[in-house]
Amino acid sequence: MQTALVILAAGMGSRMKSSKPKVLHEVAGLPLVGHAMRSGAALSPARTVVVTGHGAEAVEAVVAGLDPSAVCVRQTEQLGTGHAVDQARDALDGFEGQVIVLYGDTPFISPETLARMSDSDADVTVLGFETADPEKYGRLVVEGDALMRIVEAKDASPDELEIRLCNSGVISADCATLFNLLSNVGNDNASGEYYLTDVVGLATSKGMSAKVVTCLEEETMGINSRVQLAEAEAVFQRNARVTAMTNGVTLAEPASVYFSHDTAIAADAWVGPNVVFGPGVTVDAGAEIRAFCHLEGCHVGPDAQIGPFARLRPGADLAAKARIGNFVEIKNATIAEGAKVNHLSYVGDASVGEAANIGAGTITCNYDGVMKHRTEIGARSFVGSNTLLVAPVKMGDESMTASGTVVTKDVPDGALAIGRVEAQNKPGFARKLMQILRAKKMKRDS
Ligand code: UD1
Ligand code: CA
Repeated sequence: MQTALVILAAGMGSRMKSSKPKVLHEVAGLPLVGHAMRSGAALSPARTVVVTGHGAEAVEAVVAGLDPSAVCVRQTEQLGTGHAVDQARDALDGFEGQVIVLYGDTPFISPETLARMSDSDADVTVLGFETADPEKYGRLVVEGDALMRIVEAKDASPDELEIRLCNSGVISADCATLFNLLSNVGNDNASGEYYLTDVVGLATSKGMSAKVVTCLEEETMGINSRVQLAEAEAVFQRNARVTAMTNGVTLAEPASVYFSHDTAIAADAWVGPNVVFGPGVTVDAGAEIRAFCHLEGCHVGPDAQIGPFARLRPGADLAAKARIGNFVEIKNATIAEGAKVNHLSYVGDASVGEAANIGAGTITCNYDGVMKHRTEIGARSFVGSNTLLVAPVKMGDESMTASGTVVTKDVPDGALAIGRVEAQNKPGFARKLMQILRAKKMKRDS
């Protein structure tokens, strides 16, 4: 059976105290709404509908970037979760199959949980969880295996408030059934809202079946404040560290390593303390990322060594056994197998050939103030310390530069480029100069 997702993302999130819509705040570098879309994507949905409201334009732009096939519909007034889902009615016109409703501010519903929801044979299925602190949640009223109705905390009787089985907000039902039921949802309740949760009672009163699928409370964690955002980040990072280690990655000090939602690290990679992975990083087997490195949008080949204190920016692509040392920045550059950039260098918009050695303090001058230009460094070449490569420029294979050279023209294969002022020695001058300077200081201080 086909599945369609409806993701509710219209809420304002006033407790975030932000000019940015709540669902665009990020956990592990991915907006909250993206986490919900990612969970749902595990069901290979035939359609994804995101209901936007507050900050609709910004949310719609992000959703389109994440999944161009997703459809956004606007809920101009937030009249309740039932009203929000109803906005997806037209977008799901003609769809036959199951609809699963997710919240855009609830990032951790697992694909396994959604698969269990989707396997349910009931007419309406609700994702529930047990909690010690059910305060504000809707309560699930069950009789045996059957879910009878959901009562919101505000509308609940003292007896109902004792129930610890709560509504996560995730609901699934056959599409036609869901929208038929929604047509009958009213707003005669303590909040004056159209409650999505009312579809359960309406279904059972019509003789349809409703069931609860349960999950851990942690999965249903919703984000309403910056404090909860930080808690969610912590949960994500804790899980990502465990996953990495379970997959065979050594983390020397797990608590200090930060992953992105999409970090991919192969088994037998080694990661030292205080390493931060931004979005879009892949690391191959046997690579070693030493302490205090920052990586984003880059690839680290097998058995490569990075750091300590290295920065790999987007487009850095390191082949096998490449070495990037301390205080080196690599941006939009390929570093071929066995090449070394070991100390204090900037290599940007460049290619560095196989087994080339880039000396300390080398800079590719890639930017002329208006445009970026490329530098090519040939295989097995040797770049002397403190070389400036003024791009566009090319060094041939097995070429060299003398230390301190400013390279402004291409260097042929096998050639040495040298461009610097020749040093001269002045015998005895150093001692004489010191005497003069000390005498001056004495005079000044007396
Ligand atoms: C809802 C459930 C409650 C459940 C709880 C779990 C209802 C009536 N209640 O309550 O049973 O325990 O979630 O967190 O469904 N939204 C819209 N448009 C609206 C209203 C809400 O898009 O008009 C979105 C919000 O942005 C949010 C989600 O729907 O992402 C839930 O809305 P919220 O107002 O937080 O519902 P709760 O009162 O927490
Ligand atoms: Ca809520």
